[in-house]
Amino acid sequence: MSVIEQSSAPSGSGATEGAPWWRQAVVYQIYPRSFADTNADGVGDISGITAKADYLGELGIDAVWLSPFYPSELADGGYDVADYRAVDSRLGTLDDFGDMVEALHARNIHVVVDIVPNHTSDQHVWFQEALAAGRGSAARERYIFREGKRPDGTVPPSDWESMFGGPAWTRVAYGQWYLHTFATEQPDVNWAHREVRDDFLETLRFWSDRGVDGFRVDVAHGLTKDLTEPLPSRAELERMPFDGNHPLVDRDDVHEVYVEWRQVFDSYDPPRTAVAEAWVNKSRVPLYASPEGLGQAFNFDLLQADFEAGQFELVVRENLELARASGSSSTWVLSNHDVTRHPTRYGLPHPTRETNGEPSIRHGLDWILSRGASPELDWVAGERRARAATLFMLGLPGSSYLYQGEELGLHEVAALPDTERQDPTYFRSEGADLGRDGCRVPLPWTSSSESSFGFGAGGAHLPQPDWFARYSVERETDDPDSSLTLYRRALALRRSLQTDEDLEWVPTGNPDVLHFRRPNGWEVVTNFGTAAHPLGRDDAIIATAGTASGNLPGESTAWFGPSQH
Ligand code: BGC
Repeated sequence: MSVIEQSSAPSGSGATEGAPWWRQAVVYQIYPRSFADTNADGVGDISGITAKADYLGELGIDAVWLSPFYPSELADGGYDVADYRAVDSRLGTLDDFGDMVEALHARNIHVVVDIVPNHTSDQHVWFQEALAAGRGSAARERYIFREGKRPDGTVPPSDWESMFGGPAWTRVAYGQWYLHTFATEQPDVNWAHREVRDDFLETLRFWSDRGVDGFRVDVAHGLTKDLTEPLPSRAELERMPFDGNHPLVDRDDVHEVYVEWRQVFDSYDPPRTAVAEAWVNKSRVPLYASPEGLGQAFNFDLLQADFEAGQFELVVRENLELARASGSSSTWVLSNHDVTRHPTRYGLPHPTRETNGEPSIRHGLDWILSRGASPELDWVAGERRARAATLFMLGLPGSSYLYQGEELGLHEVAALPDTERQDPTYFRSEGADLGRDGCRVPLPWTSSSESSFGFGAGGAHLPQPDWFARYSVERETDDPDSSLTLYRRALALRRSLQTDEDLEWVPTGNPDVLHFRRPNGWEVVTNFGTAAHPLGRDDAIIATAGTASGNLPGESTAWFGPSQH
């Protein structure tokens, strides 16, 4: 087993002097099963990531975040973990993992792994023990088992719904029901149980000892629950405020868990980091992001915003304010493994919001299709806006999270045959929600469809469309106008321009144009409108459309360097 020495961890490239590396990092999310397949089984693997270490190094990122690579029945793309301290044999071994960490660290790339504490897989040894042991057993205490209603127990303990649709309770042998916030195969763990807490601390140490630099914490707001009888109904739950006392979500006592995690993180040198996936009220985000807690929290506001100046400005203002309140840095995300890719979102007709005004998490293609409208995707406009939004994001203070394939300008794969779909959200909603497979299709590395566009010789576990050829790494590598070239240049520039975590807005006199300046004079201007905006200068250091005329074309972003001031 190759255990990586602490000393081989990368130093803090990309950050300002003395600041921890993660505060202004560019973190590239890898969905391992769809990245690169070296053993020709149609599924990406850990060695595939190692094989692409040079590609990742040349991209100019500071860290990779790996979606789950643990043993799993894949009921939810790996977010159903059967063993937290192993690598799925289809993806490799712990030695492969060690080699990958070594290869990435050698290129100054930190490694962040996804940890899934809210639920295990139903194949996890604990759950199998709980099933075998029966009601009232110690093994069932690690999960949330309850008796059903009615004398014969045939009615679930409450009418709660799973996040993926359908009931949140499933009945097992001996007649009890267990709670699963997500799919049936993802039983929720009982975080009031000391053994559960200790075991997760062990898992954090296990990966930290193997050179992992940080953790992305799945469903960080969901771990602790108050299931005091009588259980509230779904309607009652919905009326309850999210103030720290809600029975299921964002409870104050969840932070007792993270205080213990923090002690583990801080026992390493450098301290391990974490970023919370916490879907909570804004005012409560700092609780997760504070230095005593997980240290950083995602905000998904940009990926819920339309390509529109007012929305982007509000998102930035609010989140910088929150980052100040927590002492953490902000996070920005335009695409990830749960949402429609951003070129596609921006290429679809407005509005992409639910009719009640609430943003839909996976708004975009799903929204349009689930309402029976025809998805008139404007590929070119979508890509143009996506590039402008990306360059805007990369200029912001804080960390930017990129999702594999976005550097290629990849669109969502909308037209997957129903028989090929894998996502439980598709099945549990009986097709009303198309699910997330369209952003998880294996990457195109080469332009020839041979070997699944270079993904691997064993086919691709989700079918790739012909148009992937136009977005391959091979085709984009030497193209000065490609998305990949833009990302590479922008990331290199960002590194050289990095400065303190602040910005000052510059008035533009145009409601469609946002302009901000970083403390060292680095400036970012984005035109969200369609008409050109006069800049009065033509010295952009990078731009998503030509600015030689002294104008910023519609739907484009330009950066100006500090030296001109
Ligand atoms: C992950 C999803 C996953 C869910 C349940 C989410 O936050 O990002 O991909 O399905 O947690 O684990």
